[in-house]
Amino acid sequence: MDKNKLLELLRKMTLREKFGQLTQITGEPFIGRADDDMVETGPGYPPDMLEPDTLYTVGSVIGVSSAKMTNRIQSEYLKRSRLKIPLLFMHDAIHGYKTIFPIPLALSCTWDERILEKAAEVTATELRASGIHVNFSPMVDLVRDARWGRVMEAFGEDHLLSGHLGRAMIRGYQKRSDGKIGPAGVAACVKHFAAYGAAVAGKDYNTVDMSMREFYDYYGKPYEIALQEKPKFVMSSFNTFNGVPVTASEAMLRQILRGTYRFDDLVISDWGAVSELQNHRVARDGKEAAELALTAGVDIEMVSTLYLAHFEAIVAEHPELLDDVDAAVLKILQLKNELGLFENPYVDEEAESAVILSPESLEAAREAARRSCVLLKNDHQTLPIGKQHRSILIVGPFSNTRELLGNWACKGSFDDVPTLAEGLKQVDDSLQVNVYDTLDDCPGDVLEQCDYIIAAVGERWDLSGEGHSSVHIGLEDSQQQLIRQVKRLNKPYACVFFSGRPLALQDIIDDIPALLWCWYPGTQAGVAIAELLTGQETPSGKLTMSFPRYSAQTPIYYNEYSTGRPANASSYSSRYQDCEIGPLFAFGHGLTYTGTEYANFRQSSDRITAEQGITFSFDIHNPSGYDYPEIVILYIEDLVSKAARPTREMKKYRVVPVPARQTVHVELTISLDDLQYLDANLQRTVEPGEFRVYINDLAKPVFAFVYEDAV
Ligand code: BGC
Repeated sequence: MDKNKLLELLRKMTLREKFGQLTQITGEPFIGRADDDMVETGPGYPPDMLEPDTLYTVGSVIGVSSAKMTNRIQSEYLKRSRLKIPLLFMHDAIHGYKTIFPIPLALSCTWDERILEKAAEVTATELRASGIHVNFSPMVDLVRDARWGRVMEAFGEDHLLSGHLGRAMIRGYQKRSDGKIGPAGVAACVKHFAAYGAAVAGKDYNTVDMSMREFYDYYGKPYEIALQEKPKFVMSSFNTFNGVPVTASEAMLRQILRGTYRFDDLVISDWGAVSELQNHRVARDGKEAAELALTAGVDIEMVSTLYLAHFEAIVAEHPELLDDVDAAVLKILQLKNELGLFENPYVDEEAESAVILSPESLEAAREAARRSCVLLKNDHQTLPIGKQHRSILIVGPFSNTRELLGNWACKGSFDDVPTLAEGLKQVDDSLQVNVYDTLDDCPGDVLEQCDYIIAAVGERWDLSGEGHSSVHIGLEDSQQQLIRQVKRLNKPYACVFFSGRPLALQDIIDDIPALLWCWYPGTQAGVAIAELLTGQETPSGKLTMSFPRYSAQTPIYYNEYSTGRPANASSYSSRYQDCEIGPLFAFGHGLTYTGTEYANFRQSSDRITAEQGITFSFDIHNPSGYDYPEIVILYIEDLVSKAARPTREMKKYRVVPVPARQTVHVELTISLDDLQYLDANLQRTVEPGEFRVYINDLAKPVFAFVYEDAV
């Protein structure tokens, strides 16, 4: 359809039909509750008022899956709707649809945009094959507090990395970079605008209060970067921001999102968030809530249906909103048109199964899973399991489980997931593998015989994710005891951890000689981990979120400001009296089996100017037999500035393929723009002065340079 036809269609629409397009409902009115092909991701909203004349005007449906079901709903809808405008189907496939990739926090530990883009591409292909058009992903909320259950959906504590990884996923979902949707692509939705990850005390849905300087330079940055990839949607967040719920905030949605960040596509509310304006106590009733959200710039209301209930009164009082309504409806029609829905609103039910869980997708999931794991500790090269060890005992609550997908695993099935033991047998069938939940269950002769033990422990998948904030983020006592019991057996052992967030392990870390952090790896879990444990591949991931020593050490992040009393041995310094200084494992930490060394550090100049950046170069030598991706991170330290600054800031990162037994030359260039920051008056500035540069190791600067004002 060309634009004129779409405009003609718009002209034919009644006001109710227009507000219908601005309304998203669950599949419940069409298929009833508790169907396998329908998920609900929030509290139910009784669709009372959806009489047929209203129901058959809605523009989109959330949470329904499978080609059969989307076709069924679409066809019933089209039969009964007056203008026959096809429905959009939207879903949350945040780390895969049926082929499940590692949770986003794990994916971020690859630091590899290619891996995230591929994961998104596979997800889009599977979604489209099931009749789904819009994916509520990526979430680019900056996170610093592991008590927040949703850190599993984030890309960690660095704003630049979060933004670029989010961009890569948008590219993968939409399969183009120009704001259009490529073949078998889906529309991406960046969420949750804004600063949802800064909820006070890590408590979900909680208040957010921060300076605009903090917002623009940190919490806002990931959205700013991700929006450059032109996602079709932005989801507004549940939280208040500096006193106003974002769902009702013109300042956030119109001035910052549409104004400063120049987003010009569709804003959708979060689940029920329009109605929740009443709970926030900024709206007296549903009508006022709808009015506030519409005025603030929320185009589509998710599930609470107040737009449809109150549109007549709202429009009567605010005729000026009609232009916005028309503009939003036109964008929705354009998207439907771009997706080809007016010509063919259905999907091929026969073709769906060939696309889902294809060998190519599984291979991509396996690579992503392998690359997401982070080797946090490896005393005396306890890992990989040496060739002399043939009898392996796996013990612990994760020893024999398929529940390794992580939360928000969409339509992923545990049945598709190889356990750790199956993975080990698959990658090396000469291994004898025994599996028990506890050591007490393990018969004496098995214990006697085994020559290597893996303790498979962690936090259950359903203890992180939305609505799963925790005050304790450690390892439960029984699992700590298990590790100590294993230690007393005096056999070589390593720990494999699963979790959706960093855990606080100060009390047990000394009893763990080798620690492989696997997060939740997805459909290929067991095999990918086995490849690392047996040394067929080396771990290569690096942390994107600091690990606190104790739960109460959160929030903790690498780019803290300096203080007047930087932490040191004195108690009159900025530290906790009962905790060592710094995280247990820092942002950027991650070991390999390779023994890689860096050498020949050089810099093109010791002065930076507006015209000329500085190139820092060095060689990476890999003496091992592994071809692997080395993650290189460059940080700068601005020694003196007028406003307080972080002591270290990541400015560049690169994933460098390093072939076995070779040396690779790396060059990273920074320009003056990289040194900019917002001063106390919110002006972008670069100040003359001295800077230090760190490569990977935050303790030891390897370069220094100055910027002198051009006078
Ligand atoms: C979450 C969103 C999600 C939406 C729809 C909400 O509860 O905050 O991230 O996209 O539900 O499932």
